[in-house]
Amino acid sequence: MAFAFRNLLLYGDTMNKKQFDKQSQLEGLMMAAPVIPVVIVDDPKKAVQMARALVAGGLPAIEVTLRTARALDCLSAIAADVEGAIPGAGTVLDAAQIAAVEKAGAKFMVSPGASSKLLNAADDGPLPLLPGTATASEMMELGERGYVHVKFFPASVAGGAPYLKALSSPLPRFKICPTGGVSLANAPDYLALPNVLCVGGSWVAPKKLIDEDDWGGIEKLAREASALKRG
Ligand code: 3PG
Repeated sequence: MAFAFRNLLLYGDTMNKKQFDKQSQLEGLMMAAPVIPVVIVDDPKKAVQMARALVAGGLPAIEVTLRTARALDCLSAIAADVEGAIPGAGTVLDAAQIAAVEKAGAKFMVSPGASSKLLNAADDGPLPLLPGTATASEMMELGERGYVHVKFFPASVAGGAPYLKALSSPLPRFKICPTGGVSLANAPDYLALPNVLCVGGSWVAPKKLIDEDDWGGIEKLAREASALKRG
């Protein structure tokens, strides 16, 4: 983890051992594939089939958003039954959800933004958090708390790839996962940037294909996404 060690040297005052380990874990899962699928699913059986298709297509890290009544059950089912998956929880907004997703077997968490209460709770727990940011100031505040890996949300309307390119020179240490409005067509614009490790998106697991149990279709979308190149 040469990159993470370099950042530890630069920001050792803000990155304790626990945060260093969490940032290293985030780097690993953001480098596992160029795309982290963002999924909205409400049926654990479908969640398992969908996750198997995503993993088969080359996308192991999967963000299960806490936006359905049975999202936690879907997360636990993927954690228990899908070999090779790195299940994460998305739309994590508070301390209670952090405790719940940890219990459900999440390996990482994603939030659309970052409140002090959420960050404090994440500091106390074992799971790495990929917090949402949309401005230089938000990134700098996260940097002061030892964060290097962040989500850029909502990417397409917050400025898109040109905005992230502009941030890469003054804030080179941040390694970013743009999410929100990302597609197979525009993902290369983001992945070409030096400060982008991966993108997040729901296009690889669309509702229509989940409703139709079209796991082959999802695997095909995952395969296309996993073939995207960085740099
Ligand atoms: C999310 O809902 O967290 C992401 O913004 C997914 O956005 P997308 O549906 O535009 O990919």
